[in-house]
Parts: sequence; structure tokens; C-alpha cells
Amino acid sequence: MTRSLLITGGAGFIAGNLVHHWAAAHPADRLVVLDALTYAGNRATIAPLIDSGRVAFVHGSITDGPLVTALLADHGITHVAHLAAESHVDRSISGPGAFLDTNIHGTFVLLEAFRTHWTAAGSPDHWRFLHVSTDEVFGSLEPHDPAFHEGTPYAPRSPYAASKAASDHLARAWQHTYGLPVLVSNCSNNYGPYHFPEKLIPLTLINILLGRPIPVYGDGQNVRDWLFVEDHCRALDRILEAGTPGGTYCIGGCNEVANLDLVHQLCDLMDELAPELPVRPSRGLIRFVADRPGHDRRYAIDASLLQRELGWQPQVTVAEGLRRTVAWYLAHPDWWRPLLSDTYAAYLDSQYAQRLNP
Ligand code: NAD
Ligand code: TYD
Repeated sequence: MTRSLLITGGAGFIAGNLVHHWAAAHPADRLVVLDALTYAGNRATIAPLIDSGRVAFVHGSITDGPLVTALLADHGITHVAHLAAESHVDRSISGPGAFLDTNIHGTFVLLEAFRTHWTAAGSPDHWRFLHVSTDEVFGSLEPHDPAFHEGTPYAPRSPYAASKAASDHLARAWQHTYGLPVLVSNCSNNYGPYHFPEKLIPLTLINILLGRPIPVYGDGQNVRDWLFVEDHCRALDRILEAGTPGGTYCIGGCNEVANLDLVHQLCDLMDELAPELPVRPSRGLIRFVADRPGHDRRYAIDASLLQRELGWQPQVTVAEGLRRTVAWYLAHPDWWRPLLSDTYAAYLDSQYAQRLNP
């Protein structure tokens, strides 16, 4: 079956990787990207696929109803992978408005436009809308709590998590009320190529390359369940291909690591793999700074439903994935250097200064 797949947020980290994955794995499918190119969007991530004509790129916002409606019709969209979002927790604390606008209102606009488009086409059974979400909607775990699973009650605690939780509820309501073939996935922390350097892993790598301090929030013992982004893309592929509409799938790496351990691993890999560094050993750059307000202590995912139902499991261990990620950042300064604008540097400096002197 040939699909016409719309990937929202396709110039961002995960969706950009998904565009590369889909272009290679499903050569017959038509691919369309809608992206507003916010600070987190980078056309360079998928430029070869746009320039070759493999991907049709539409520059615009998911909140723009007339644009989305026209796009769905013009490109004959049959499937949507919805990843466009404001995604950084720290930014959601300093400025939550954009999170409500994009993550909640934008998801509503997209669902409504897709519903109209799907109804006009006679409600085809095989069309799909995959709403991609996060494990942060489930709140925070204590050290010995069992991992999050599909039945875990929602308890979002940051503005980011609350906005994603709201959008998950909208997606499920559109499935329940209108019969729209919607699926929802909740994934743990991703890492890998094309990750914007405000998130912990790329921030650490680039700060090491520049000899800047590595800020570790609080005591560094907050735990995340890390998943290599290509494994996430494979999971999204399986869900779009074979998931049950109305279903929710938890996706995780079974790789719980405390932040400080993770930063140590990154420092050691950089010491081993980087030809030259301003400060060596890199661990000397680690600085404990003021904690994030409301910082969730631990996330962990039980992905056994996805394994059982759809035969997915992660293929990349955290040791291998981190090594590949470090090698990628070392080989691609052309991708990340242009992101280090004065505005970006000022943002990082202000974050750091605030956390040093709360
Ligand atoms: P990202 O911040 O790297 O990319 C987001 C993309 O969305 C950017 O290209 C940006 O330009 C685009 N965008 C933002 N607002 C838009 C708008 N109004 N209209 C169109 N495009 C817009 O995000 P990411 O980390 O790759 O996350 C992608 C999705 O996956 C998000 O929905 C996020 O909640 C979810 N998720 C992320 C993680 C993670 O670890 N990063 C884990 C689980 C789920
Ligand atoms: P982040 O990459 O922002 O992802 P999320 O908040 O969605 O989990 O942060 C990952 C963890 O790293 C989180 O516990 C906060 C912490 N962190 C730091 O210790 N220092 C930093 O500079 C950043 C950005 C995050």
C-alpha cells in the first residue's frame, strides 16, 4: 500500500530522524514535512531529501488551520506522524505560552483538519494519525516504583508535560468520538544525531568541545530511560504499520541512567574519541548548579506491550548509542556550529548564570 505521509516537525530532532528512516524504509511512500522552523527546527537536517525532491517541505505552523487544510488536500495525505511541538522543559518553565499554543491548540487544529479530510474521503479504514508523545505525562517515579506502562494514570508536573498530556487527551477524544483512526505513543528520552544542543546530551558534548562548563542540575541523581532515536523511529514505523487504532504504546529503552553517570560516560567518550579538547579530562568541566524547579526524579518505561504486539525491541545499547552519538557530533560541526548564534550563546549563558546564582 502506498501512503502519503505527513510528518509534522520534520526539521526537528526525532521527526528529522523519522524522515530519514521513512525515506529509506518505504521508498514508494510520498513524504511531506510541515515545520514552522522555530529555533529548534533546522532545514539542514533534511535538506538533501528536500533538494532531491524526495520530501515536499512546507514551511508553516500546525496552528494555521487554512494552511493545514490545504496541505492535506493538495498532497492527498493518508497518514500523519505528528511530532511538531515545543519540547524543552526548561523553556516551558520560563515561557509556557508557546507550549499551550503549539502543543495543545496546534494538535487540535491538526486533528480537526485531518477529521474533515478523512470524512470527505469516505472515512477510509486504512488511514492513520499517530500522535507522538512523551513519558513525562505520567509524572515522576520513586526509586523502587514499577516503570510507567499504558495504564499508568496521567500526572504531568511541568508545563511541557501538562501541554503534552492535554494533547494526548485530545487525540484520544477524537478517536473515541469521531472514530478517527488515531494512535498515541509515549516515549522516554531520546538521544542521537540532529539533537538540538539545549538538551543534556548534545549540550554536554558541545560544551566539552568549546571548553565551557557542563551544568548538572541538583545532585545529578535524576534518572532518565534513554533510547537511541533510530530505535524510536523503528517503533513509530511499526505502530503506523500494524498498531491498533485507538491504541496507546509505551516506548522505552530499558536503559535507566542517572544524569551524573551519563555525563561521566560522555566525558570519557570525548576524552577517548576527540582528537583535541580545550580541557582534558573533560570531567573537570562538570559544575553542579541549582536544580530545575519541580524536577521529575525518575522516568522509566515498560515497553512490553509494543514488544509483544508489534515485535519491536530496541536494537542499540546505550553504550553503543552514546559512542555513535559522540562520533556523529565530532564528524558534523557543519550541522551544529551554525546553531551557536549569539542568541543561543546568550540563552545558555543566562540559564547557567541563573542556576549558579539562583
Ligand atoms: P524538537 O524541539 O527537536 O523539534 C520540534 C520541531 O517542531 C522543530 O522542527 C520545530 O521547528 C517544529 N515546530 C515547533 N512548533 C511548530 C509549529 N507550531 N508548527 C510546525 N512546526 C513546529 O523536538 P523533539 O525533541 O524532536 O520532539 C519531537 C516530538 O517527540 C515532540 O512532540 C515531543 O513531545 C516528543 N518526544 C520527545 C522526546 C525527546 O526525548 N526529545 C521523547 C518523547 C517524545
Ligand atoms: P533534558 O535533556 O532537558 O530532557 P528532559 O527534561 O525532557 O528529561 O534533561 C535531561 C535530564 O538532564 C533532566 O533530568 C535535566 C537534566 N539536565 C541537566 O542536569 N543539565 C542540563 O544542562 C540540562 C539541559 C538538563
